[in-house]
Amino acid sequence: MSASRFVRRYGYIADMRTYEKFAAATSADIVAASFDHAQDPRLREVAQSLVRHLHAFVVDVGLTQSEWELAIDFLTRTGHLCDGERQEFILLSDVLGVSMLVDAIANETASSATDSTVLGPFHVVDSPPRSAGDSITTSQSGEPCVITGRVVSTTGEPLPGAVVDVWQADDAGFYDIQSAEVERGELRGLFTADEDGEFWFRSIVPAAYPIPHDGPVGQLLEASGRHPWRPAHIHFIAGAVGHRPLTTHIFVAGSDYLDSDAVFGVKPSLIKEFRTVTDAGTLPDGVATPVRHCHFEIVLEREEA
Ligand code: BEZ
Ligand code: FE
Repeated sequence: MSASRFVRRYGYIADMRTYEKFAAATSADIVAASFDHAQDPRLREVAQSLVRHLHAFVVDVGLTQSEWELAIDFLTRTGHLCDGERQEFILLSDVLGVSMLVDAIANETASSATDSTVLGPFHVVDSPPRSAGDSITTSQSGEPCVITGRVVSTTGEPLPGAVVDVWQADDAGFYDIQSAEVERGELRGLFTADEDGEFWFRSIVPAAYPIPHDGPVGQLLEASGRHPWRPAHIHFIAGAVGHRPLTTHIFVAGSDYLDSDAVFGVKPSLIKEFRTVTDAGTLPDGVATPVRHCHFEIVLEREEA
């Protein structure tokens, strides 16, 4: 390609500071300018900010050649572990707090909606549909519990027909998809709220568990003196017509690791008591006592808000 065609096609080359010496003091400006003519203004904004922060970081820590090689090796191994089942890059984002930060930005409102938290890698799109009062487990092990809930709008109106997708780990801290022996759908369920916006199900109290830590992310945690554990929790995605879907958890009050969740997902409002109930009169009909009970009021924000 002739020089003039090159300049016509890649017009930015004319204003790139290619004549300036590439040095620690000038690198961010030079590279940021190379994105000046990005067609998409958002791409330009994100790429230039990324370049500036990345270059500032490299200068700040005085990154050495061997540390750069180590970082490339770490990211390469992280990528090699990713497939349809495992997403080591999301796990990296989780332990760096980036997943929760993106979630915080997306849900930063002054509304009284229920707090959101991280989705995690164990959600499946085909959770088994279940009816009110069903048990989400076929296993005999674990401490029985009952979860009652109600889905309402921020103005307090019940949301009949709201769909509540639930999934949790067992009493040893494993999800069904982590074991070839466990039937798919174990400890999962898709519930539809009744005319009062209410839903309920039987389950077992989940255990705390470590996030997958047999890969580069686990090595990073180990080298940093960090543990891989998450406090005991149950996941929920709740949706209702005209309302913003909510991805959240309830955390079992008193669980270990509430103050040191490996992925920073705990919010105080989401820590719930799982009280031992002996008086069956306070529970839905037919529930045998004693049983642990937790009530979760899910408040959804209107879509247009
Ligand atoms: C989870 O709770 O399922 C989870 C969340 C983030 C990383 C790993 C697991
Ligand atoms: Fe989980």
